[in-house]
Amino acid sequence: MQHCFNIVTVFDNAQLLARAAASHIAQLANRAAQEQPLYRIALAGGTTPQSCYLELRQEILDWSRIHIYFGDERCLPEGDSQRNDRMAEESLLNHVPIPSGQIHPIHAQWGAELAALDYARRLLQSGPLDLAILGLGEDGHTASLFPGQDYRQEPRLALPVFHAPKPPPERVSLGPAAFLAARHLLFLVTGASKHDALVRLKRGEALPPQQFKHGQWFVDQAAWNGS
Ligand code: 6PG
Repeated sequence: MQHCFNIVTVFDNAQLLARAAASHIAQLANRAAQEQPLYRIALAGGTTPQSCYLELRQEILDWSRIHIYFGDERCLPEGDSQRNDRMAEESLLNHVPIPSGQIHPIHAQWGAELAALDYARRLLQSGPLDLAILGLGEDGHTASLFPGQDYRQEPRLALPVFHAPKPPPERVSLGPAAFLAARHLLFLVTGASKHDALVRLKRGEALPPQQFKHGQWFVDQAAWNGS
């Protein structure tokens, strides 16, 4: 089986990676401005994406054209400090001039089933994402697509997730179909604890990111080399 590492860039450390990722995102969005009126980005949760959002505040971007979606959300009350949308607000969205109507949270407080149906409908209306930012879990999950499930025949744009091994157990994730339709996928991976998952992906193991062959990977030395 061919692995998912389409383009990999290895950075000396997590800070350099975060800066490069922010400038890459700005470049993609600014370049697209010449061809299209809107630019749709799905954000990831997790600490590596968060460092990139802090850097993204400094970039020159036309926020009036950007629409923000979420790759996954944790089923917790609105405003909960553990929600991915709250993290994105605090690290980025509250600090840039993006109109609030252009932020599209997953209503995960409604419960996974209902929130996933609602988000799938909204995604269908808005059309494919231009860019999805993704993290990688130590177990090889991405967004809230966890190993041990075969997502290859999964047609839904957003899925309810129960019994996730990473807390909280109830979540909503974009489905593989939404990521496959996205024009660009950017995986951000840092730290030696991610090395095993990268090795398993390199071997072609059927972990969730494996089905996305058009992804670009920004990885730091520690994750790539394991030390
Ligand atoms: C979440 C994320 C998850 C995350 C990875 C990597 O809800 O936690 O969506 O997919 O991106 O677990 O997170 P770290 O960068 O914190 O390891």
